[in-house]
Amino acid sequence: MTAQDTGSVEDLAARLRPGFTLGVAAAAFQIEGSVTADGRGPSGWDAFAQKPGAIVDADSPTIACDHYNRADEDVTLMQELGIDSYRFSLSWPRIQPGGKGGINRRGLDFYDRLIDKLLAAGISPMATLFHWDTPLELEHAGGWMNRDTAERFAVYCSAAAERFGDRVEHWVTMNEPVSVTLQGYALGVHAPGRQLLFDALPAAHHQLLGHGLAVRALREAGVKGQIGISNMHSPVRPASNSLSDRLMAQSFDVLLNRIYADAVLLGQYPRPPLPMKPWFRSLGTVRDGDLELISQPLDFYGLNYYYPIKVAAGRGPAEIPTGTAVEMTKVPFHLAAYQEYETTGFGWPVAPEHLAVLLREMKDRYGDALPPVYITEGGASFPEPSHVDGPIRDHNRISYLAEHLGHALTATGPGGIAEDVELRGYYVWTLLDNFEWAAGYSQRFGLVHVDFDTLERTPKDSFYWFRALERARHREP
Ligand code: BGC
Repeated sequence: MTAQDTGSVEDLAARLRPGFTLGVAAAAFQIEGSVTADGRGPSGWDAFAQKPGAIVDADSPTIACDHYNRADEDVTLMQELGIDSYRFSLSWPRIQPGGKGGINRRGLDFYDRLIDKLLAAGISPMATLFHWDTPLELEHAGGWMNRDTAERFAVYCSAAAERFGDRVEHWVTMNEPVSVTLQGYALGVHAPGRQLLFDALPAAHHQLLGHGLAVRALREAGVKGQIGISNMHSPVRPASNSLSDRLMAQSFDVLLNRIYADAVLLGQYPRPPLPMKPWFRSLGTVRDGDLELISQPLDFYGLNYYYPIKVAAGRGPAEIPTGTAVEMTKVPFHLAAYQEYETTGFGWPVAPEHLAVLLREMKDRYGDALPPVYITEGGASFPEPSHVDGPIRDHNRISYLAEHLGHALTATGPGGIAEDVELRGYYVWTLLDNFEWAAGYSQRFGLVHVDFDTLERTPKDSFYWFRALERARHREP
């Protein structure tokens, strides 16, 4: 793909509908550092990151981008970028160190200042209440396998709502519960490192319950902002038309997409293909009233889209790096490669047309139950040097973003395949190169390069491209 295929910034800007939000997204644990400076408690991720072999190159998240101490500089960068909105996450253990009991005023103060700085810079705050940093004490008590964590989460959400409810314009209850369930509890490649395979599904239900309780807590607190959730979704296709490939793809679609979206939007769990029913047994932890809570109406639905998935029957090896967890070799299917696409630094296929497919699929599945949609994350890592001295010509990232945004706009515009989806915005993952979970600092997703020795920030060409897009759209015709 060349930058030429993506068309001009002016053309793309002209297609942005009035009021369409352009933003960047980030997560507390990946950028903040300052693990204990203000009384923040440890999270499951702090503990996991210390396990030998858990993180590429044994990278430590202790300092990350040092955003905690450099928030002013980072908001200035965002202002320079010209974005409409910033999606960030509140760290639960910074606000409530043990996950229960006392609230840490200094933790609340940090976000209070951040929100005020954003508003003063004309940037609308979108706050995510949970982006994977479960307080360690709760993780020791079973984490999201324990129903009690959902109840605890609601208490912390009430404290956040009380303090920030007058200024946060969009609330995201949870980020990608599917990733926590699969990577964290089923496969063990993310915190807390459990390898429960299909027995991990109670973690899905309890996160969804946490979402429902959070929605109720925010509404009871009378927050002024809109409320939604961010789920990662990928269209899932069978590797061939064989019955076994189709059954495995359908099952993986249930695991990856439907458990979350069906519960939130339809108030029910999906039916897996009959022969695979026993795999989903552990979802039976549902109590009366849970699904009503989980499916309360939302103001928006956040979609995180990175790449499509192809599933083949038969045990591994996975043909794409995301599926290479050792535990994956124990299940009777594997992720197959999309040969026709180029790949990102992570080895993920670059397939922007599948974002349009996903939007169509969401509407087909959920109809009027689908509220207005924000793409709350999309972006790509590419190999880039640790230290830079001069411009960073990341035209692959510019193409990635232009193509994905372009396909989303075409699909949801007049005559598009998903014109009945109300798409309200696109958030780039992410502003700064950061701690990319198990990949440590080896995968760079930022519009801004970070030198992890000096913490110096250097805008990449993609930063200037995104800025040009914002400027072009506000220019008088
Ligand atoms: C997560 C981010 C992560 C990104 C890239 C998303 O699934 O929400 O935290 O950095 O993917 O891996």
